[in-house]
Amino acid sequence: MIKENIVNIINKFGFCNIEPGPSIDILGDIKNMKKEKDVIILAHYYQKGEIQDIADYVGDSLALAQIAKNDNSKMILLAGVNFMAETVKILAPEKKVLIPDLNAGCSLADSCPPQKFKEFIDAHPNHTVISYVNTTAEIKTLTDIICTSTNALQIIESLPEDEKIIFAPDKNLGNYIQSISGRDMIIWDGACHVHEEFSLEKILELKKKYPKAKIIAHPECEKPIQIIADHIGSTSSLIKFTIQDKANEFIIATESGIIHQMKKENPYKTFIPAPPKDSTCACNDCEYMKLTSIKKIWATLKYEIPEIVLSNEIIEKAGHPIHRMLKISDELGL
Ligand code: 13P
Ligand code: SF4
Repeated sequence: MIKENIVNIINKFGFCNIEPGPSIDILGDIKNMKKEKDVIILAHYYQKGEIQDIADYVGDSLALAQIAKNDNSKMILLAGVNFMAETVKILAPEKKVLIPDLNAGCSLADSCPPQKFKEFIDAHPNHTVISYVNTTAEIKTLTDIICTSTNALQIIESLPEDEKIIFAPDKNLGNYIQSISGRDMIIWDGACHVHEEFSLEKILELKKKYPKAKIIAHPECEKPIQIIADHIGSTSSLIKFTIQDKANEFIIATESGIIHQMKKENPYKTFIPAPPKDSTCACNDCEYMKLTSIKKIWATLKYEIPEIVLSNEIIEKAGHPIHRMLKISDELGL
């Protein structure tokens, strides 16, 4: 009966809104439940700092997938967005995969609806389909090889030089990879609302104020931002750059959650979020990533819902391109 009520709540809200009582030690309870229930928490770098701090692993999209594939625990709680949790479920189908809020979508994944993408593929026969991991499981079933921002170039370069490629859904990442690789690519017109929001003018103004600062950007940023960037890379690559580079100040053109790890790694360096075009919004925050909270994690661990459920057919079909990506990445030591 209680379980039934909770399922109804999940169906209505997409998350379990049962609050821990005032006497509950939430962090202590989370720690105990992780142990008792044999759960690991995987968190993406865009999660709130306090969530990154309670996670067993914090990583980029590729690392989280790799950990999920090799992990031995009974359950995985993914603190991130739906496409990441779906990828975990596809790689560990025998496990219960939990996500604290089913509303944690992704504007980039939404920019590629399956029916339209299928028509696009049909209109371009004899192309190999490479999709970014930021896609729904259904898009992955239409894909030959998945990539992430860490391995996109290597995945493209693993194909014969004359191979015709469809790349989806991020046009900024696609154009960036095409400009480096010179490959024959048709690129889907999708984008992420967070990364398209950075203002070139305001970043250049900021650079005048901090002339020694290095500008670092995720490849989902628009081309003008990429052109002025000192380094372009995935979330893990950006963090690595802040550790290895001699600069003491960095302007960060990606989601603000990443600054938490940058500060942890470099306590004496300064990190300045790149300003968005609209100064009245909190546009450097991905609102989907920020739906996760410690309280929701507590409720998710306690009641073991919301759970990611995918059909065996989807798991099998979407699994092929993900496993191909992981194999290529393993061979290259990525
Ligand atoms: P990474 O794969 O670089 O972690 O990026 C994920 C993402 O959602 C970027 O917006
Ligand atoms: Fe999706 Fe953009 Fe959020 Fe990344 S930052 S999860 S691409 S909406």
